[in-house]
Amino acid sequence: MSKKYYITTPIYYINDVPHVGHAYTTIAADVLSRYYKIKGEDVFFLTGVDEHGAKIAEAAKKAGLEPKDFADILVPRFQEAWKNLNIEYSEFFRTTDPKHEEIVKKLILDLKERGYVEKKKYTGLYCTACEKFLLPDELNDGKCPDHGIEPKEHSEENYFFLLSKLTDKLLKVVESGEVAVLPQSRKNEVIGKIKSGLEDVSISREKVEWGIPFPGDESQTIYVWIDALINYYSASKIYSEEIWPPDIHLMAKDILWFHAIIWPAMLLALDIPLPKKVFAHGFFTVAGQKMSKTRGNVLDPNKLVKKFGADAVRYALLREFPFGEDGDISEEKIAHRYQSELSNGLGNLLQRTLSIIDKNSLKVTVAQETRLDDSIRKSIEELAFDQALRKIWTIVEASNRFIDERKPWQAVKVINTGEIFEIMEYVLASLTKIAMHLEPFMPETAEKMKKQLETLKPEPLFPKID
Ligand code: MSP
Repeated sequence: MSKKYYITTPIYYINDVPHVGHAYTTIAADVLSRYYKIKGEDVFFLTGVDEHGAKIAEAAKKAGLEPKDFADILVPRFQEAWKNLNIEYSEFFRTTDPKHEEIVKKLILDLKERGYVEKKKYTGLYCTACEKFLLPDELNDGKCPDHGIEPKEHSEENYFFLLSKLTDKLLKVVESGEVAVLPQSRKNEVIGKIKSGLEDVSISREKVEWGIPFPGDESQTIYVWIDALINYYSASKIYSEEIWPPDIHLMAKDILWFHAIIWPAMLLALDIPLPKKVFAHGFFTVAGQKMSKTRGNVLDPNKLVKKFGADAVRYALLREFPFGEDGDISEEKIAHRYQSELSNGLGNLLQRTLSIIDKNSLKVTVAQETRLDDSIRKSIEELAFDQALRKIWTIVEASNRFIDERKPWQAVKVINTGEIFEIMEYVLASLTKIAMHLEPFMPETAEKMKKQLETLKPEPLFPKID
């Protein structure tokens, strides 16, 4: 049995259609997945949806549907969006999968048997949009800082996961890097939180019907976040044992708490091997504003793909700002990169090179290169996608400059000197190199480039858009 390289995205709430925020994480996971496949790893890439909880039940009710029927309608929306973006996931997880429900119940029972579950009364402020209790000092003007709505006071008797008991063990695995929390600033944050003291967390809900029944007490359902986190583990039972433990969990900083604290603590309690890496990327705004339905500025990835093509969207999102940091995106920014870096940069380089060869029927040989550049590899493995792309583009720019300087169209006149072959073969080697390194980021473009580098017939890579 050989270990597969296991990459995950969050499972997205199904109360809404996929937006560019979900796409961002999923694209990054796909780039990593394709990269490790090229490297020869047996990759398992999991994405999916989070179907239970009050928020979904509410949305279903609004739509006049049963929650499961509502979810069934929305699932294809996610799958289509990922298809449009050329996301090559291994499996698509749904938390309504009966096999998952059984696994969740089994783990909860196991936690109970190991002495990590207790029934307690709790009163607090609950935000249904977050699906969690908020502490008074987390509020912004009495409102949830993420959703801008007032959380409601809520009191109930719930089952609690005795997180506090795991404080020391958790601190040790995070500090030592046994569970690597990245970027470093996030690791510091997590360590700070653990050190400031962890409280036990409620893992069941009395009032939420749309969820997995709590084993041994069917008057409660399992808290949606606990159900959701277990998806990563269920996948190893449902699809392939060889994926466990996860090599990397990807998400944004909004849900790092669950992935870097609650989840490893649960696994520690259960004596299940821990994920190796938890990477929280930044949050982006759209043209300077928080993306929200009320503002009406939610970017639909499908529309972007329709306009710019999957590869341009993949490129522009990852290129815009460092993966671990916050940043800003907009359709204008994507359009600008499309024009300058893709169309005028890469597209033009390929086009002009092959045109000269084609027009003059030059018999050139294209060198075959297979080794990936160490520095670009390092950037990808560190999830510095913007850096990797920047490095690839230095080759694009240098090659364009080289052509401008050597003016091969003049050398064509003195074809018998051989200079033209020297120039063109050099540029072709660069193009081969570019195509190879672009494969994880822009699979379609890389494919088109490779084909053209074989046939030596130019075809536009990035057609003009209106
Ligand atoms: N269902 C939970 C996750 C459970 S995982 C066990 C959830 N779902 S979500 O639909 O709200 O997705 C949150 C994730 O979407 C973020 O962590 C991030 O991956 C992505 N993003 C949503 N909006 C985003 C931005 N504006 N910017 C960057 N990423 C964004 O939480």
